[in-house]
Amino acid sequence: MSDATRIYLTGSCEGFDRLKESLAQQPGLELVGSNEQPGAAGGALAGGHLDCVLHATSSSTLPAHELATIREYTRAPLLLVASREASSLLDEALSADVADVILLPALAENVVFAIRKATHGPRRAAAAGNREGRIVTVFSPKGGTGKTVIATNLAAALAKVEGRRTLLLDLDLQFGDTAIMLGIEPEKTIFDLVNAPGELDPDKLAGYTTKHPSGLDLLPAPLRPEDAELVTEAKLGRLIEVARVCYDAIIVDTSPFFHGPMLATLDRTDELLLICSLDVPTLKNVRLALGTLEMLSFPTARIKVVLNRANSKVGMKQREVEAALEQKVRYEVPSDRAVPLTVNKGAPAVVSDAGSDFARAIQAMAKGVLPAEEPKRGWKLRPSFARA
Ligand SMILES: Nc1ncnc2c1ncn2[C@@H]1O[C@H](COP(=O)(O)OP(=O)(O)OP(=O)(O)O)[C@@H](O)[C@H]1O
Ligand SMILES: [Mg+2]
Repeated sequence: MSDATRIYLTGSCEGFDRLKESLAQQPGLELVGSNEQPGAAGGALAGGHLDCVLHATSSSTLPAHELATIREYTRAPLLLVASREASSLLDEALSADVADVILLPALAENVVFAIRKATHGPRRAAAAGNREGRIVTVFSPKGGTGKTVIATNLAAALAKVEGRRTLLLDLDLQFGDTAIMLGIEPEKTIFDLVNAPGELDPDKLAGYTTKHPSGLDLLPAPLRPEDAELVTEAKLGRLIEVARVCYDAIIVDTSPFFHGPMLATLDRTDELLLICSLDVPTLKNVRLALGTLEMLSFPTARIKVVLNRANSKVGMKQREVEAALEQKVRYEVPSDRAVPLTVNKGAPAVVSDAGSDFARAIQAMAKGVLPAEEPKRGWKLRPSFARA
């Protein structure tokens, strides 16, 4: 994965196009895209893993509305670009949520310097200290492809076999069934957590998760489908940031839709396990999903295709899947009777039938998503201790 600083450009002003061209030539910067209208760039702003947004304005007053629109989608540092005559903007902008103001014409080096300063400022420092846990999102645009079976088993393997601090987050907010697959009857769910009064912090998170015998902590989906919409993107974003401090891995189970919470999750996802199977409708939808992810500027390097029931004899071959998706299959998971048997027992196969083909495939996946040779991390608050 490239370490380039990912920037997005919105708005317009005199000289902005020239600046765009010269920034495109700068090593270490990646222009993810541009759109004059911040409102029309929502997908890319939210899902583009941006390090910085440059917004140009030709107005002599602060474009508060446009800045607020950008802020609805991303917390990335914002730089305002204006022509020299607009220098009256400076004070107003800096007291708003703007990291710096660039007055054009300006030397490209100076602009790069301003971008570097903004992206390595306090936000980055905080990020470097805090954003440690790996967010692995298990997604498929089609229902019933095995997302939940894979997410629950992957989380259990990471916790039990790899000894990682693991949170399983159920974002199939209406019909989540991670709890039932793990044989857990939850007392508290994500709905209770995001609606509890006060700031969300590690201690609070610990009070709402349920420990499974494998060692994983589960934050289940709301018990009632109608409560799903109260789990807003802003609350979810905060929740994921807090979880990152407490866990090595956060495995997110999802529903087959690109809704708001999913976009907030994608924005923070380090690895997206895209579940596919050997059937034409699923393949068609996975292909469409890849197109949507591209439109959202989700980094391709973070997408890993998982072929579930890879050994099924159904007249379609893995290489046909790879050709249709223009993507290699990264993980193969076999169809295995152990899966329905262990699902019905409420005991994940990696724990209750560890020798099964399915469990072995998931164990290999666990090693792949969180390689053992990763440098040891510093101390983290362990939610289970905090609760004791
Ligand atoms: N590799 C497999 N071998 C055998 N059965 C499997 C396998 N993967 C999934 N299944 C079965 O398929 C069913 C659907 O799987 P699962 O619930 O994980 O799908 P899902 O993608 O989460 O569905 P939804 O979109 O409804 O949440 C499960 O009951 C499970 O037993
Ligand atoms: Mg599911």
